[in-house]
Amino acid sequence: MTAGIRLRSLLSCILVIGSFVIVTVLQQPEKARAQTQPNSDGLIRPLAKGLDQAIVESAVQSIEKGRETFRYDTFGDEAFWGDTLNLDATIAGAANGGIGPGLSPRTALNLGLKVDVSALPAALQDQLLAGSVNLGDPAVTVALLQLNAVVGVKGFFSSGVLTSVGIQCALCHSTVNDSFAPGIGSRLDGWANRDLNVGAIMAFAPDLSAFATLLGTTQDGVRQVLNSWGPGKFDAELVLDGKAFQDPPANTKSAATLIPPAFGLAGVNLHTWTGWGSVTHWNAFVSNLEMHGKGTFFDPRLDNAAQFPIAAANGFGNVRTTPDLITRKLADLHFYQLAIPAPAPSNASFSAASAARGRKLFAADGKAACATCHVPPLFTEPGWNMHTPAEIGIDSFQADRAPDHRYRTSPLKGLWTHTKGGFYHDGRFATLLDVVNHYNAVKTLGLTEAEKQDLVEYLKSL
Ligand code: HEC
Ligand code: HEC
Repeated sequence: MTAGIRLRSLLSCILVIGSFVIVTVLQQPEKARAQTQPNSDGLIRPLAKGLDQAIVESAVQSIEKGRETFRYDTFGDEAFWGDTLNLDATIAGAANGGIGPGLSPRTALNLGLKVDVSALPAALQDQLLAGSVNLGDPAVTVALLQLNAVVGVKGFFSSGVLTSVGIQCALCHSTVNDSFAPGIGSRLDGWANRDLNVGAIMAFAPDLSAFATLLGTTQDGVRQVLNSWGPGKFDAELVLDGKAFQDPPANTKSAATLIPPAFGLAGVNLHTWTGWGSVTHWNAFVSNLEMHGKGTFFDPRLDNAAQFPIAAANGFGNVRTTPDLITRKLADLHFYQLAIPAPAPSNASFSAASAARGRKLFAADGKAACATCHVPPLFTEPGWNMHTPAEIGIDSFQADRAPDHRYRTSPLKGLWTHTKGGFYHDGRFATLLDVVNHYNAVKTLGLTEAEKQDLVEYLKSL
């Protein structure tokens, strides 16, 4: 065992066995740190002295810094969303120094934007409960931005006037628990926001000429594509290959994919639906190429002009922006994401007896043999977790938009949190039963209806 490997296994021990501590730390850092005591197993915090203590401290600091980045960092992308697309102007509306009618809180909530209740002063909470806040008034949206209460969106202000707007990872990969009202509650980091209509929000920007130029089309053309996505979806490959629909020229099926969760990712090798790379590869990819933050990104696979004509023509495979506001944050951001556990479903949400039967069917030597690919407890393959479209019985459209031309075995833990929008990368299967029926057909599993139901209950229990 090298020192590096030992360090890493110690770190994973801290993450796994010490998850209680970490959760506590996120709530009350000071209190939790003071609790750095040995627990019954004695493995992780043997009085946490010397190097052990240093590792615990470093892990806690990494999580705190990574969480800050995940929730609040724009990486300077307001230069794009605000200054270039001018999104802040249509959010504010003419009455508040912008243009047009503005974005009311009601419309914002309908577009799936979420409000962090902890950022709302008590007086405002009371007014909201009393119904005395005008949810039709864009000035209220501006006020919420000023309070830093809109999850994933940051407003920039000059003398009280909204002058720019940027986006954060939390926009797509967080939601709230609705504890205060629908769309208003405590943050749930890592959960896919399947209510969020990213396309409609982007289409709300007054100036889409940057996208039109990139894609070689008109602003109306861009708007049409953005409005075809629908809730819970985004197309990360559009700015690489310009493919907006799966079925040209009919153009009835959007090429956008579902927003996946960003929890439960530790131990999983390749990420994204099509396995572009590790978590940290994709974090760098997204912050530079999709959010338009300022940083450094290197991936010469994007220089392949046949597969990625737009990326190749624009040098997306080798981005060097100064100052670099991204690279120094990647390690802690990575660490934070790996620390977010997949949430467990409530016992009442599935039938335990049926799930227990489903578990046997799911096993590698069971009738459905799902675990040959979805290996528990990761529910993806340890190793190179990629498959050809034929192996899972679907078309190659989305696989062919990624360097490996394959689909990545989705980790299934916390599946219950993202049932909205359907399953598989484009949500083609509306229900878990549809997914099971698909495997039953393409793999000729010969499952009875009762067995299918047991598998569904098992999937709901993960
Ligand atoms: C506009 C919405 C949006 C924003 C903002 C966004 N993502 Fe994503 N994210 C997605 C979508 C959609 C995918 C799936 C991409 C694909 O497979 O092509 C994804 C995939 C991922 C994955 C892969 C998860 C897995 O295992 O499949 C990670 C990790 C991730 N994003 C992290 C981040 C981080 C970190 C940020 C901020 C730097 C971020 N994302 C910002 C929409 C978003
Ligand atoms: C050959 C490997 C393989 C086998 C066997 C397999 N899967 Fe999958 N599974 C995949 C891949 C790859 C994906 C991702 C598909 C995509 O991206 O569209 C996936 C996706 C899924 C999803 C969707 C996850 C999401 O987030 O939308 C579910 C649910 C699922 N599989 C359940 C099962 C069940 C149940 C079985 C057994 C009946 C099974 N799988 C057998 C490889 C496999």
